[in-house]
Amino acid sequence: MVASMGEILARAKKDKYGVGAFNFTNIEVLETILKTAKRLRSPVIAETSESEMNFLGAEVIAASFNVLAEKLTVPAVLHLDHGKSFSSVEMAVSAGYSSVHIDGSLLTDPENIKITRAVADYAGERGIFVEGEIGRIPGTSTVHKQEGMKINLTDLTDPSAAASFFAATKVNCLAVSIGNLHGVYPGRERLDLNRLGAITEVVRGFLSLHGGSGICEADVKSAIQLGIQKINVNTELRQAFIGGIRSEMAANPEEIRPYEVLPEALERVAKVVEEKIYLFGSDGKY
Ligand code: G3H
Ligand code: ZN
Repeated sequence: MVASMGEILARAKKDKYGVGAFNFTNIEVLETILKTAKRLRSPVIAETSESEMNFLGAEVIAASFNVLAEKLTVPAVLHLDHGKSFSSVEMAVSAGYSSVHIDGSLLTDPENIKITRAVADYAGERGIFVEGEIGRIPGTSTVHKQEGMKINLTDLTDPSAAASFFAATKVNCLAVSIGNLHGVYPGRERLDLNRLGAITEVVRGFLSLHGGSGICEADVKSAIQLGIQKINVNTELRQAFIGGIRSEMAANPEEIRPYEVLPEALERVAKVVEEKIYLFGSDGKY
């Protein structure tokens, strides 16, 4: 069923599990994400970045999501991921997204507060859930060749800055930078769990962990116990989808029927979604 982000995250917070926020670029992957969540009786967040939204079109995305999610027996939410401008947020909300992330992390702190507060005011009047971001999460959702990445200490979320940002912007959820990186790197990313603990002491809202691909699994579990409710996953889904297409095409180079090529890619996507749902502990909750 189409659900509200606030409701599914409140339940996750109470029962200490994480809800996967899975990116998609096409309807086949969206449907695979939703079907896998249904099979595992897990709540689910389907999300698109600005580029993904622009590729498929906000209206096509929202209409498809509503048709597919209505039939589900588990709660599902459509979310804009890393909206960088007010106009992206407006585009998503007008099309029917019920939740948005405004990412002002590349701006100065006062500018970040200003745009995030403006989005929270706009969204609040419309019953839309808002995620803000304080601190910078490096990297992009792709496969990186270099070992890890040098994270500047100043990029990590400072607990007291997070508390002030949360109070000043009135967002519902905060994305934090605690060692998480966008993308997959050789070796698993480790999280600064002490920092997360300090943030949860002073921020009473929901917390979101980006860069959910390639993080040390034990750290993900600890982060959930410490107070993360939403976990974003993109790169591992992209790898699975494109990897499946590549292997099908290598095995059958003459094949041109998409419905013959796509099932392998979608099975691999479903496997990643399933692994993450089990890791986050959201299976069997509905
Ligand atoms: O916003 C999207 C996520 O943070 C994805 O991160 O590509 O490392 O899974 P990831
Ligand atoms: Zn992200």
